[in-house]
Amino acid sequence: MTSPGNIFTHPDTVSGLYEEESRLAARTSALHQAKIQGRAVAEVIADLAADHLAEPWQAIVADLGCGRGTSSRTLAERLRPRRLLAIDTSQAMLAAARARVADYSTKVTYIRADFHRLPLGDATCAVVVAAFCLYHSPDPRPVIAEIARVLVEGGIAVLVTKSADSYQALDHLVATAGIDVGATRRPSLYGTAHSGNLVALTAPILPIVHVEHEEHRFAFAGLDHVAAYLATTPKYELPPVMATDPDAIATALRSRVIDGPVAATSTITYVVARRGDAP
Ligand SMILES: C[S@@+](CC[C@H](N)C(=O)[O-])C[C@H]1O[C@@H](n2cnc3c(N)ncnc32)[C@H](O)[C@@H]1O
Repeated sequence: MTSPGNIFTHPDTVSGLYEEESRLAARTSALHQAKIQGRAVAEVIADLAADHLAEPWQAIVADLGCGRGTSSRTLAERLRPRRLLAIDTSQAMLAAARARVADYSTKVTYIRADFHRLPLGDATCAVVVAAFCLYHSPDPRPVIAEIARVLVEGGIAVLVTKSADSYQALDHLVATAGIDVGATRRPSLYGTAHSGNLVALTAPILPIVHVEHEEHRFAFAGLDHVAAYLATTPKYELPPVMATDPDAIATALRSRVIDGPVAATSTITYVVARRGDAP
């Protein structure tokens, strides 16, 4: 089942997006260079886990949809848990994570698995992190139920997503430039798990102990910088000649839009939930 109109939940699209490290690396780099406000997400995740966990060094920690291992590395470094499980469906992402996560006296196990069916026993993990990946599920509630199943009594889930209106200013730019006139009507990539619904998705399954939202602000230096980001997102229906070619996108943008800085925002939402706390 996929979410109607949301390609971010389509299994073929998702596996295509993450079959190589390069697209995610280019996207992260473009956003990182543009970021002018907002804490480093991996550090916030590790701090939240540390704040809600009594003895992290005893813990088994799972990082679902670990991607290139950014949060896995910070969790290993900050918590030094007994064991870290880096879990992803993509072999390429697991290889990238393995290359980035140094050994911080933590045994790291890389597991290729779908977060809808975790190959873990009941009540095995003290912490489960799911950052920027629940929106790849057409219905994240069974994933949250899977997280609840593998958490020990008192164990915590740290769930992270972004707002449905993230980077909306770029939709307007793309539509104004005429390279995708329907861009502003296209559904959010984060439609199934976003800042506005994550609490409602989680609360019936796991009692929530902490929620915070933080606005991240981005200032793209100019149209070349915007194009470097646009070439990495599947949201737009660009002409095939420019689809993943930043130079072609930049040339097309410049023909219709005055070059200069472009501002965008995204709200990051952190939900901490604990298994066993009274609802
Ligand atoms: C945007 S990346 C997030 C990476 C990382 N968590 C972070 O915060 O940087 C999303 C990751 O979720 C993974 N993913 C998507 N669907 C998944 C599924 N059903 N089960 C496990 N991982 C999945 C993708 O392969 C990708 O590596």
